[in-house]
This record gives sequence, structure tokens and C-alpha cells, in this order.
Amino acid sequence: MAHHITLQPGGKSFLAEANETILEAALRSGINLDYNCSNGSCGACLARVRSGRIARSRHHDYVCKPASDGSPQILSCCSIAGSDMVIEAREAGRPQDVPLQSIETKVYKLEKIDDHIMILQLRTPRSQTLQFLAGQYVTLKIKSLPPRSKSIASCPCNGMYLQFHVHASEQDDFSDYIFNTMKPRETVMLNGPGGHFNLDDDSDRPILFIANDTGFAPIKSLIEHAISLELDQPMYLYWNMPENNRHYLENYCRAWEDALDNFTYIPVHSDTCTQDTLSRIIEEQHPDLGGVDVYLNGPEQNARAIVERLQQHGLPADRLFIDEVKKY
Ligand code: FES
Repeated sequence: MAHHITLQPGGKSFLAEANETILEAALRSGINLDYNCSNGSCGACLARVRSGRIARSRHHDYVCKPASDGSPQILSCCSIAGSDMVIEAREAGRPQDVPLQSIETKVYKLEKIDDHIMILQLRTPRSQTLQFLAGQYVTLKIKSLPPRSKSIASCPCNGMYLQFHVHASEQDDFSDYIFNTMKPRETVMLNGPGGHFNLDDDSDRPILFIANDTGFAPIKSLIEHAISLELDQPMYLYWNMPENNRHYLENYCRAWEDALDNFTYIPVHSDTCTQDTLSRIIEEQHPDLGGVDVYLNGPEQNARAIVERLQQHGLPADRLFIDEVKKY
């Protein structure tokens, strides 16, 4: 049986199923409760119980003492709710709340979509999952290659399996290695997360997600997070690919559109430098951008071309969220 968990301060709430910890339930619901080891040894996920009870607790080494006011404390990574509960816990809502982590991951899966795109999935140890916010990036270190910053394409609801999108390029040793040499179970060192390209969950304005090419990766993470939060404002995804390149996760986007009443997917092929077709389509569908939020990602030179057009159509500067860290 599922139980309602209410968080203080703030009053956010989520449902915890009988087979999941309070931390797992919060992350699945798009709520970034603070945590670190996720196995009961660090105490980062300590929460005060204001009301309700836990059904059981997984083994943990960290000793939970009562809080200074006498209320009981639990570890959200080890506790399973036994009734509706009100708990007081820290949320990692801003990038500065998320600690820098260094994790030895393994290659879990390499999925070659076509000659241009590889989807790389890394797996962290169960006892050291990555805490991050949707839209952030990490630095990957593979063998003797220079470290490379890559946006995480998956959602913070699962910090153990991390997805990255890699473009084929013979001139790029990192890409060449992933396409031609990398093998499952190989070690990849991960450091991070970093970046401030995050969703403003407090806004109820319609959202335009604009992705260029593999700049779709952090946009995918943001959309999955928005879905976890069950945001109900209209959301539009404009995904621009260069002529002759296909939208490599087209079925994924179509599935979002089929499943959600408030989600519209618009695939575009536009000149990658001028972004002319993309800008024109957006302007036709949203002649006044004064009331929307825009999340934009893609190669830097492309972003500049489209930002000017969006601002001419009324987009306020503070409602434009743009991924400014160079990753490729
Ligand atoms: S996250 Fe370390 S004890 Fe829960």
C-alpha cells in the first residue's frame, strides 16, 4: 500500500510505495532530497519525523539519534513508510546544494543508433549513485584520453544508470574511442556534476524546450524531470537536426506526446548556422513569447542566432535558460 509523504519546509508531497524507500520515492517524483551514499553510512539523508511511522528500515551503519527537540530521526535512503508521514528533510534544489562527487563507473551499454550517434550508458556502484539535477553535466575520464564534459541525458530519478549521447567524429579521439574501441564493463571515472541549466519548477508558464542535434541530451533530462514532477502547463519540444540527419530518439519523443495531454513534439530540419526554419516555425506557433519559459541547448554558434530572434518576439531575458557550458 502506498503512503503519502509530506515534506517540511515547503509542503511538497509524494507517494511512497510499499517496496521503495522514502528517498527512492522522492527521486522518482522529481523531488531532489539530499543524499550521498544511499546505503546508510553517511547520514546526508537524515530526516526528522514530524508524524507517522516507518514500516521497516534497511540495515544502516549510521546511528540515528533523536533531534535536539526530541523528535525521532530516520535515514530516508533506508526507511520504508508504514503510514502517511510528515518529515522534515533537506532538499538539494539548487546546483550549489549538490556535492561534487567522484565515482568509478562501468560501461553498462553501448547502443549505436546509426553511423552518427552512439548512446553510452554508465552504471555507478549501487552504494554510490550520482546525485545531480536534471540538465547538469559531468566530466568523464576514459583511459589516457583528456577528460571530457558531457551532459547527462537521463533523469535524476535514477542516479545509478546514466545516459550520454555521443556524436561520431573521426577527428575527435573521445568520440572515435567510444565508437570503435570501448567495450561493456570498461571503467570510466566520473567527476561532477556541474552546470546551472536546470528547470525552474516553481514557474507555471508554458515551456518551450529547444534542442539542437545532440544538445537534445540535457533537454531530455529536463523533460523527464518535468514529467516526474507532473507539471501541467503546456510543454513544446522543438528538436532541430541538420538536413539528412534523423532525430535519433524520435520514438521516445512520440511516446511522450502520446502519453501526455500537455506535450507537443515538433521535429525540425533547419540550417544549423542560421536556424532560420526553426525560428520561423517557433514564431508562427508562438507569435508572442512574452509569457513562456524557453530552455535552449545546442552548439554555441547556433544558439546565438536563435536567441536574437526569440527576443525580438518578446521573450524576456530572465525567462531564457540556456546551457552555456561548452560540451561536445
Ligand atoms: S544517503 Fe548516506 S545515509 Fe542515506
